Amino acid sequence: MSAELTSIEETRDALGSAGYLAGESTALVSFLAARMGKPVLVEGPAGVGKTELAKALARATKRKLVRLQCYEGLDEAKALYEWNYRKQLLRIQVEASDAGWSEVRDDIFGEEFLLPRPLLSAISAEEPVVLLIDEIDKTDQEFEAMLLEVLSDFQVSIPELGVVEAKTHPLVLLTSNNSRELTEALKRRCLYLWLDYPDVERELEIVRLHAPELSEDMTRKLVEVVHMVRNLDLKKPPSIAESIDWARALLLLGAEDLDAGVLERTLSVIVKHRTDLDLVAERVGVKLTDGLIGSRRAG
Ligand SMILES: Nc1ncnc2c1ncn2[C@@H]1O[C@H](COP(=O)(O)OP(=O)(O)OP(=O)(O)O)[C@@H](O)[C@H]1O
Ligand SMILES: [Mg+2]
Repeated sequence: MSAELTSIEETRDALGSAGYLAGESTALVSFLAARMGKPVLVEGPAGVGKTELAKALARATKRKLVRLQCYEGLDEAKALYEWNYRKQLLRIQVEASDAGWSEVRDDIFGEEFLLPRPLLSAISAEEPVVLLIDEIDKTDQEFEAMLLEVLSDFQVSIPELGVVEAKTHPLVLLTSNNSRELTEALKRRCLYLWLDYPDVERELEIVRLHAPELSEDMTRKLVEVVHMVRNLDLKKPPSIAESIDWARALLLLGAEDLDAGVLERTLSVIVKHRTDLDLVAERVGVKLTDGLIGSRRAG
């Protein structure tokens, strides 16, 4: 049975119980999407929780998650449906000797020989699902057009079989890393959520949630360092995913403090370009040595 999201507050709480700390706009847009039945386009830098939001919404609403991972060259056969050629061929071989072609033909284009892919699975599910269309910016505009049709009509027409109408409406989330501008037509049909790096306090909560064993002091220091590193002009700033990894790495290494030495040894967990490594070691290491990080502890 799926659970309903009846208010913004409840949405935030339900996401929280599902292990996702939602900011105000995240809770608001998720609530509206569930109530209005509109897809949400989630954009933002890498590793800020776009994919996880869909997973958490599935857990929060007790719905099944159907995921379509997009990539360059993704086509209808992999996204919508395709015919199970092998099975069709076998049936033809079995029947060919004593049945006419028209009978065999009717037979092999039946539902039994259809392989539903994520989009078709999502709309033909008996119970409403959460449909995650991840990294839509990796596909081309033709794919987007096909998607629009499915998302606005909630039906799929299969020439040999007829129209498959949605039994239930999925809660749809599309994510994008902005590698290309999406079409206006798609944006018009979606609610929009921009996810950015969180502020220090929210990121502290998120890291605590994922690495509760790390001491409060170290966690705060770690998040402050990450924020400082994000403010440098790096090729690839560290994301929430990297803050969490770093916390777990420090735990595994049994580090007791986050000082310049520990930073230097573990820097590659959060910074992944050679030139960035040099810059961070130079700028942030000094601040740790001078005790300028972690000194503004709250309470
Ligand atoms: N608000 C949050 N509450 C709890 N965990 C979070 C939150 N935001 C991000 N995370 C955690 O951060 C990590 C990265 O999130 P996710 O994979 O969803 O990022 P993404 O935006 O989809 O990145 P990419 O663009 O690289 O696919 C996950 O482990 C996720 O659990
Ligand atoms: Mg993702």
